[in-house]
Amino acid sequence: MSEHLVEVGRDGAVCTLLLNREQKLNALSSALERELQDALASDAVRTSACVVIAGKGRAFSAGADITEFAERTPEAVLAYYRETGDVYEQVAALAQPTLSAIHGYCLGGGLELALATDFRIADETAVFGFPEVGLGILPSSGGTHRAVRLLGPARAKELILLRDRLTAAEALAAGLVTEVVAAGRARERALELAHGLAALPATAVAVTKGTIDAATDASREAALLIERLAYGLLAQTRDAQTAADEFGGSR
Ligand code: COA
Repeated sequence: MSEHLVEVGRDGAVCTLLLNREQKLNALSSALERELQDALASDAVRTSACVVIAGKGRAFSAGADITEFAERTPEAVLAYYRETGDVYEQVAALAQPTLSAIHGYCLGGGLELALATDFRIADETAVFGFPEVGLGILPSSGGTHRAVRLLGPARAKELILLRDRLTAAEALAAGLVTEVVAAGRARERALELAHGLAALPATAVAVTKGTIDAATDASREAALLIERLAYGLLAQTRDAQTAADEFGGSR
């Protein structure tokens, strides 16, 4: 059996996507991105309640594959986003919650992949950074946009322009990661959270995730309207009605 660059695993309702290019620190080649796209389209992901992304070996990912940087005409760059470079947006667009379990290097495109997930669980060995500007480019797989949204412009500029690397503790203090755990425990903790999320009413989780994501870009009026419409939808679900019956609620 040929080895996959992305290993897809399932534990109950939780799907794990394991980056499997450890000899290159899980550098995100276009072949790996293509396998990630295929994985996202697989039944294992589509029917899951929660997705965990992790890296094999000694790193989460050392970023975009630098050896593929040779031909970068404007046409090649546009073709890249048409073919595999959109996979980060596909991760972000998943309806179910997503978590990154991060250890070791989480650089450049690796950090952009992590930022495309809902939660980042790092272990104490994790090292974060955006080396792009030093290489004469910039984070361009949603990284600048998501860093600004998550951290604010000043912190994003600090991360992208001023700082080489952030430790796990510094990343936690900056708000870049959700939680820091002991070395070697990130996947276990991410899976624990994933199973907790998978046990919640799936429609409520998906609609709430979508509502939060939409609120980031919407006016206050639109965000409030979406929230109320979402409530109108969710209140009709069997889960909500059963919960209301159990507690004798009438709202
Ligand atoms: N693209 C392609 N290959 C990469 C890579 C990347 N982004 N990052 C690491 N690798 C490869 C190395 O070339 C090396 O391959 P080799 O064993 O065939 O020579 C292997 O992965 C291990 O990396 P190595 O550099 O030996 O490990 P290290 O622990 O000494 O250093 C890093 C780790 C992450 C500091 C270093 O590999 C690095 O700086 N990588 C580039 C990071 C980067 O700039 N990413 C953003 C791109 S926009």
